[in-house]
Amino acid sequence: MAYHEGLRLAEPPATGTAETADDLLERQRHRESSARSYPRRLPVALASAQGSTVRDHHGREYLDCLAGAGALALGHHHPVVVQALRDALDEGTPLSTLDLPTPVRDRFVEQLFAVLPEHLRDGRVLFCGPTGADAVEAAVKLARTATGRSGLVAFGGAYHGMTQGTLALTGRKSVKEPLGTLLPDVHHLPFPTAFRSPFGLEDGAAMAGRLVEWALTDDLSGIATPAAVIAEPVQGEGGVHPMPATFAATVRRSTRATGTVLIADEVQTGLGRTGDLWASDAIGLDPDVLVLSKAIGGGLPLAVIVHRGELDGWQPGAHAGTFRGQTLALAAGAATIREVVRAGLAQRAREAGRRLTEGLLTVAADDPRVGHVRGRGLMAGAELVDPGVVDADGVPVPDGWLAGRVQRAMLDRGVIVEVGGSHDAVVRFLPPLVITDEEIDRVIDAFGAALRAVHAEDGSER
Ligand SMILES: Cc1ncc(COP(=O)(O)O)c(C=O)c1O
Repeated sequence: MAYHEGLRLAEPPATGTAETADDLLERQRHRESSARSYPRRLPVALASAQGSTVRDHHGREYLDCLAGAGALALGHHHPVVVQALRDALDEGTPLSTLDLPTPVRDRFVEQLFAVLPEHLRDGRVLFCGPTGADAVEAAVKLARTATGRSGLVAFGGAYHGMTQGTLALTGRKSVKEPLGTLLPDVHHLPFPTAFRSPFGLEDGAAMAGRLVEWALTDDLSGIATPAAVIAEPVQGEGGVHPMPATFAATVRRSTRATGTVLIADEVQTGLGRTGDLWASDAIGLDPDVLVLSKAIGGGLPLAVIVHRGELDGWQPGAHAGTFRGQTLALAAGAATIREVVRAGLAQRAREAGRRLTEGLLTVAADDPRVGHVRGRGLMAGAELVDPGVVDADGVPVPDGWLAGRVQRAMLDRGVIVEVGGSHDAVVRFLPPLVITDEEIDRVIDAFGAALRAVHAEDGSER
């Protein structure tokens, strides 16, 4: 018997089959790797979506404050994105062209350059493999090639991806420890975090800035002058920590003084999310390399780095890959960039973010378990704590167990949120930029109601 004769083709479920979400989740549990993550905390099977709302397999609606981990700036199935995808298909543009030019690719590049921070508008763009992590890898390779140095400085709490190189730059220890040696010559310095900081109650921005300056410029710092410093203008996965502008100024000054390439990872913050088109621009970071993914693909996989032209010392093919600018992602991305600018969605994110954080603060005012509310634009977080236990600075300790229960209780109330930060104790809000005021109010109500429900259950085992 020929090998293929023994193979079975999977049959699509017959119309009307009453497959429950539990069936789908169970099949996923059975077939997919243990590395799957979101369905463990958010056990829903999604069937359809529109705007800020997703609908599960049973027709139940949820407000989506995860939004593809920030990839869906315009929410689900925005008409301009759907139209751009249809147009690209109707035009018959080849879907996969490596890096050969197409009209769709050209339109994306023109659209991107039209809205980049001023100092990068005469720079270069490199299309990477379609993930944020691959773009960070490319940025690091670019900096190393351009400077002839190898060292890299990253920050505690940073998240730059899950490849071996980007994990070396990432803060969270639990995902690194099973892997042994990662990319060598990486040095982590403290990021200036509010509320809980390695500097205790000192001014973290000033202290962290002094450390960066010392590490880069003091000949006894022990760190050979690095190729690059990489930073997120707002740390997302690390627990929603906006970078203070004073710290940004010190980082920029120290890197410039030492010929160190400054890389801003705007994979999550880019394209309006934080209330400005580019979060790094708003705080004066003025990076030499900007790393972009998520929103710039309009919900489809796309990643680029944009950098100062003088760094472009690469050999042809120095960073290659099959999917460097996939046609549908380029079409969706160009339409998304245009719409974010046309509709003033960065400004809208600022106003909506204010409404969201004010609402979260109102909840916090009545509940000591909400230790700190912070964020920039529509990248907001509420750190949950155990008010009965304080650290050496008198700051209540993070309570990840509570955050997990609140996340689940919010899901029960029709709102999807993420958790992150130290001990996963920060409830994270990352909705589409098109979220309405009424939807924001529902998110805030669900947060308050979830906390009350969890409190009511207290006495349940920890
Ligand atoms: C700041 C930042 N950098 C890099 C990445 C990695 O992107 P990807 O998951 O597409 O590899 C992420 C993902 O969340 C991110 O938030």
